Amino acid sequence: MTRTASLQAAEIEQRITALLERMSLDEKVGQLTLLQAGGGHIPEHLREDVRAGRVGAVLNEVHVDTANELQRIATEESRLGIPLLVGRDVIHGFTTVFPIPLGQAASWDPALVTACARVAAQESAACGVNWTFAPMLDIARDPRWGRIAESLGEDPVLAGQLGAAMVRGFQGDDLAKPGAIAACAKHFAAYGASESGRDYNSTNVPENELRNVYLPPFKAALDAGAASVMTSFSDLDGVPASANTFLLRDILREEWRSDAMVVSDWDSIRQLAVHGFTEDDRSSAFEAARAGVDLEMASTTYRDHLPSLVRDGRLTESRIDALVRNVLRLKFRLGLFESAQTDAARFAPAASPSHLALAYEAAVGSAVLLTNRDWALPLDASTLTSLAVIGPLADDPHEQLGTWVFDGDAQYSRTILDAVRAHVGDRIDVRFARGVANTRSRRTDLIDEAVALAANSEVTVLVLGEEAILSGEAHCRADVTLPGAQQALLEAVAATGTKVIVVLMTGRPLALEAAVPHAHAMLCVWHPGSMAGPAVSDLLFGVRSPSGKLPVTFPRVTGQIPIYYAHKHTGKPVTPESYIHQEDIEPRAHQVSVGNTSFHLDTHYTPLFPFGHGLSYSHVEYEHLWSSSGVLPMEGRLTLGVDVVNVGPRDTVETVQLYVRDLVGDVTRPVRELKAFTRVALARGERRTVEFTITPRDLAFYGRAQRLLVEPGRFHAWIGGSSTAELRTEFTLLDHATSA
Ligand code: GLC
Repeated sequence: MTRTASLQAAEIEQRITALLERMSLDEKVGQLTLLQAGGGHIPEHLREDVRAGRVGAVLNEVHVDTANELQRIATEESRLGIPLLVGRDVIHGFTTVFPIPLGQAASWDPALVTACARVAAQESAACGVNWTFAPMLDIARDPRWGRIAESLGEDPVLAGQLGAAMVRGFQGDDLAKPGAIAACAKHFAAYGASESGRDYNSTNVPENELRNVYLPPFKAALDAGAASVMTSFSDLDGVPASANTFLLRDILREEWRSDAMVVSDWDSIRQLAVHGFTEDDRSSAFEAARAGVDLEMASTTYRDHLPSLVRDGRLTESRIDALVRNVLRLKFRLGLFESAQTDAARFAPAASPSHLALAYEAAVGSAVLLTNRDWALPLDASTLTSLAVIGPLADDPHEQLGTWVFDGDAQYSRTILDAVRAHVGDRIDVRFARGVANTRSRRTDLIDEAVALAANSEVTVLVLGEEAILSGEAHCRADVTLPGAQQALLEAVAATGTKVIVVLMTGRPLALEAAVPHAHAMLCVWHPGSMAGPAVSDLLFGVRSPSGKLPVTFPRVTGQIPIYYAHKHTGKPVTPESYIHQEDIEPRAHQVSVGNTSFHLDTHYTPLFPFGHGLSYSHVEYEHLWSSSGVLPMEGRLTLGVDVVNVGPRDTVETVQLYVRDLVGDVTRPVRELKAFTRVALARGERRTVEFTITPRDLAFYGRAQRLLVEPGRFHAWIGGSSTAELRTEFTLLDHATSA
């Protein structure tokens, strides 16, 4: 922390202390209460609450005049004039909508993620918002869970780097500057491990897994300066996060020394009694305050019970002061005591051409080319005369925005059909059919019309996947194949002999083993946001080349879940030799003659598409993986390098990925772990040497004693274009004695 920053920090603490000395207990508890606003008007009870200092923060107010009036009441009519936090879920855009976070993660581009968050911050700050409930940092390895759409994928390193990038975008370099909004690392912690992928379900995560997988992205976001943390709804090993002293005290405050403000999730303190963790609201308030939740969202157990808990001696007033201090610190850092009013005129207009241009770049960068049989893509518009666009998602300004778009304005959406017609409609007959009423519908009565169109079209762009409502909070699916009658539509269209290009619009990885054979090419665009249309059209016709890489594994079938690349080796790992499909088993095979290694009899043991996978319109080869040494001294560094060659027909961008495996550990270690990545632009024919430097700290992990370990021993390292990279080298991390 620079001297200036530390002086500012010290001054803020002094100002907080001075304010606390003037506050009554009720006014302190008022600062710990976050209530729903009226969305454009101020209900009388809220006006009274603000005036009386019974509320310190509101959420879901995005009318700037109303937000300014709330701030005026707080700063001019209340006794102490303490301004308000104004929170909103600005998850992947505001008026301008960017790809869902899972889609942005597929770009593997921290700078792009930062830029999108920056625009979202500016557009929401112009409406009086000063705090967002993002980034969502839950490691997600279960596509059944609807909130995987909001996540940054399955890997701690990728999610950590992109989460930190999002924090930088929201907060900028000074929270007090206009256009900066406070970030909120959520949902602390391990919410993504909800059992069976069913939202709000229990999570049972061994501490070692918690420390090695689920906590690192939160630490990365806090190291990037995330100003707040939100507790998750879920119980972690039997203790709900909103009363979990291990998470909120031992980890967040003691180990990480964080002073970030902690907010509960919506009503999650009151829900402690629903979990059966507490008897009633009073004990819920006690447990959450004791654990260290600073601000209660939506429920009012704090306001209803904390004063009496202090008067009864159950809680000390200094405990309350500690919570209030964290809330006030954020308000000081935001500069709200200097100015809580928003001058909308100071901000660029929402959905400006530059904002939409960024949304286009983000949609292009998020797209992942999953398959491209015989170079079916890109399409050559100069040779095509007829093109069918089929599927309801191809022409729906709302659905393409995805989940969590409270403020997304569909008037700025450009759909795929609209963009394709604008792009090539002057020379190609572009026809459209829905094919299915919607993605959930099992009705097949619209398929014939679509088939007739496809039968008379050289190419069919079939937009399949999920409506926005099928992912996001509380929207989980037990079967993650294509919903509704879409598989039937795909097969019927493919049977016509047209060239089938599937554009997959989805909030999660889908189990597509039955779909892939019917498509000549498959392009996953997630829910791409406002500029879905121009981005997809330019990708289909080769104006832009796909460069995205999967941030999450795609299963073959739902039953493989959870399936992810950084799995453990087990004591009986499957091999190509040991695997056998049930259909290939001899009749009356003896019990121990089959299997005996880790796989399913009815499905191949590999994923459909692995983490890090993504094709382009060129072809990249990796050669000459080298290491600066075969040994890494405990105080040293090791450089690993590879030649990356663009041997394909056009320029491309490749995300080069470094994975390592710790062959022997104090606890079993994953078969591969992403340690670094970088995007390189390669002109056609260009050869580039890409280098990564690692230190022993990069190899640290939590062992049985739950302490961070750097253990000497042998490591494998791979560099390539996905988690199945084949080029491998190895090195030995020396112990201190040997290193000397
Ligand atoms: C929700 C979500 C959380 C969100 C909050 C406020 O239920 O779990 O992510 O930020 O409520 O909308």
